[in-house]
Amino acid sequence: MEFPNLTVLSHPLIQHKLTILRDKRTSTRDFKQLVNEIATLMAYEVTKDLPLETVEIETPLETTTGSQVAGKKLTLVPILRAGLGMVEGISQLIPSARVGHIGLYRDHSTLQPVDYYFKIPSGEADRAFFVLDPMLATGGSAVAAVSALTRAGAQRIRFLCLVSAPEGVKAMLDAHPKVPVYSAALDRQLNERGYILPGLGDAGDRLFGTR
Ligand code: PRP
Ligand code: URA
Repeated sequence: MEFPNLTVLSHPLIQHKLTILRDKRTSTRDFKQLVNEIATLMAYEVTKDLPLETVEIETPLETTTGSQVAGKKLTLVPILRAGLGMVEGISQLIPSARVGHIGLYRDHSTLQPVDYYFKIPSGEADRAFFVLDPMLATGGSAVAAVSALTRAGAQRIRFLCLVSAPEGVKAMLDAHPKVPVYSAALDRQLNERGYILPGLGDAGDRLFGTR
């Protein structure tokens, strides 16, 4: 299945780590570490076309020019809770990144997202936003998060997840066709409770050891 908004990041290290993440025997401690490691590897890929600007600097010997990422500081926006698991891994590569937060949970019976928190740094129009959530299932949470950011004035938004379902990628394509989605895997389908198959289970519970 091909979606014009989706890039599957098939780097061997990402795929290797994702396989361990899916394994139900993986401990909470290892799960947390692997989510961060995959997020670091994904960050390298999803930032490769960021615009650069030329700056003048002084080396210890002379004046020269170099390149730096243009615009205001990049902003990571984890969707609570599970998106938090990806922040540290990306921050290792982009230590100056700002972090906004969007609080959403999926109602277990309706599968509709319920929002409870929204806080992002100012200067929305000039920032590149990276929305983070390990799971793109029905797409309800991702669509709601991107809609909230757009309403706040954000114009450059990318969505990063670890595992996606065709239903979720399609929902994003329909609602936000210009927002690129990056995923470590496009899985087969959702089950009757909205869980991704084969998936990795409940990402928030596995990350934080709840349940
Ligand atoms: C999970 C996941 C996504 C959402 C995906 O969060 O982290 O945010 O479900 O499902 P969707 O694409 O159908 O909206 P959950 O609602 O379980 O909240 P939690 O992270 O607080 O556990
Ligand atoms: N949320 C999860 O954490 N896992 C799924 O498979 C679907 C939604």
